[in-house]
Amino acid sequence: MGKVKRGYGLAGAMLLLGGAVMTRAQAPERHVWTGVYSQEQAERGKIAYAENCAACHGDTLAGIDVAPALVGPTFLNNWNNTSAGDLFARIQTTMPLNAPGSLGGRKVADIEAYMFEANGFPAGDLALPPNAALMPNVRIVAQKPEPSVAGPACKCGE
Ligand code: HEC
Repeated sequence: MGKVKRGYGLAGAMLLLGGAVMTRAQAPERHVWTGVYSQEQAERGKIAYAENCAACHGDTLAGIDVAPALVGPTFLNNWNNTSAGDLFARIQTTMPLNAPGSLGGRKVADIEAYMFEANGFPAGDLALPPNAALMPNVRIVAQKPEPSVAGPACKCGE
């Protein structure tokens, strides 16, 4: 790949993202401990969760009967080392169980943000994007990694 082409690729990526709130088109792989959703988004998600999910998964996300917990070690263990995009797709295509596919991308992202907050992941400046394709490299990591290994300031590989 030549230098000129790379420049065009970046311009193309930014065009594609359009009005999305992304400041770094070439962001390296991130994980959920680096602040991948916004506080405001999690607050919207809390309301959407209460309307669409709480009846089965419980007000505190602890699970009821056959509907599993969406917080805590079992949940995190199920999703450890997958991506935010995987979880997004799972929710959007299979949940709510009684009306799968009924939620728009923005609502799914808001609910996922709320689930991240409930699992103790920190909020950041940018909202989780409303489309699984925009977040394939946001990894879900159950345990907070050592800051020296994967701090947000790391420019490794650039
Ligand atoms: C009608 C009841 C019902 C509703 C409403 C519902 N769920 Fe579920 N959910 C279930 C059941 C039962 C399972 C387990 C069986 C399955 O995976 O299909 C499940 C599984 C899940 C899983 C997989 C958990 C894991 O650890 O693998 C996620 C994530 C999830 N639900 C999220 C949601 C979200 C987010 C909403 C709201 C948008 C929602 N659910 C609404 C019943 C429900």
